[in-house]
Amino acid sequence: MRIIRTIAEVREAVRAARRQDRTVGLVPTMGAFHDGHLSLMDEARRNNDLVVVSLFVNPTQFGANEDLSRYPRDEARDAAMADDHGVDILFAPEPSEIYPDGFATTIHVAGVTDVLDGAVRGAHHFDGVATVVAKLFGIVAPDVAYFGQKDAQQVLVVRRLVRDLNLDVRIEACPIVREADGLAMSSRNVYLDPAARAQATALNRSLDAAQALADAGERNAGTIIAAAHAVLADAGIAPEYLELRDAETLQPITLLDGDALLAVAARVGAARLIDNHTLRSADRRGDA
Ligand code: PAF
Repeated sequence: MRIIRTIAEVREAVRAARRQDRTVGLVPTMGAFHDGHLSLMDEARRNNDLVVVSLFVNPTQFGANEDLSRYPRDEARDAAMADDHGVDILFAPEPSEIYPDGFATTIHVAGVTDVLDGAVRGAHHFDGVATVVAKLFGIVAPDVAYFGQKDAQQVLVVRRLVRDLNLDVRIEACPIVREADGLAMSSRNVYLDPAARAQATALNRSLDAAQALADAGERNAGTIIAAAHAVLADAGIAPEYLELRDAETLQPITLLDGDALLAVAARVGAARLIDNHTLRSADRRGDA
């Protein structure tokens, strides 16, 4: 595996692959790899000739009071893990390579960014994500890019970006990878002390409770959300949001009809965690 720091070098490596008609898969990451990241790399490896993983803790998607300075960073560990998973290129640029002096462009995807994490973290968050992802697509020009469904809203933002700007890349969303007790894997789980780590399992348990109601035929959004709230309250967690929204548009729904995203965000101990389940109404369960 090559570790590449410059845009010029990664472009040259991709161009060389293209000259041999090789397909290119990109896994955009901020490092601190866990099994969720590794599942994206494995999927990219299975389906592409050249696998590029970007490792860049993107400053523009963090707010002033967020965890940019303490975000876990261990490039040597990440590089060894990526290498083990058959990655060809780890693109790990310095911030000045991505945002040189005078950088003046921001991409804003409207609509799906106004709610959930966009509402809580502020517009800068998805502006930062959309801008850096567009840049990575411009730099690597992948055939396919792989994202984790844990960041379900991010997936929708990236899909909209690709559609609206006619970018020639296919977006693959890969399933959430969970610890044995159901906690969604996240680079931020390292912030959890043992008590918070135990408390954090309530996030997925709350989604499970809501899912069980939906599976039993409940369609009233208020009733479904209340079941999830009860589990969180029991664990002493007051969520930043716990909402059921249309899985494509993120518009609020009152009745489960088709696919809906049940998304939660909460501060647990020193970590801000997010999780989600896609709920499908009983009458649509046979649909593809
Ligand atoms: O999901 C992430 O790790 C980041 O938001 C991404 C997509 C790499 C952009 O910085």
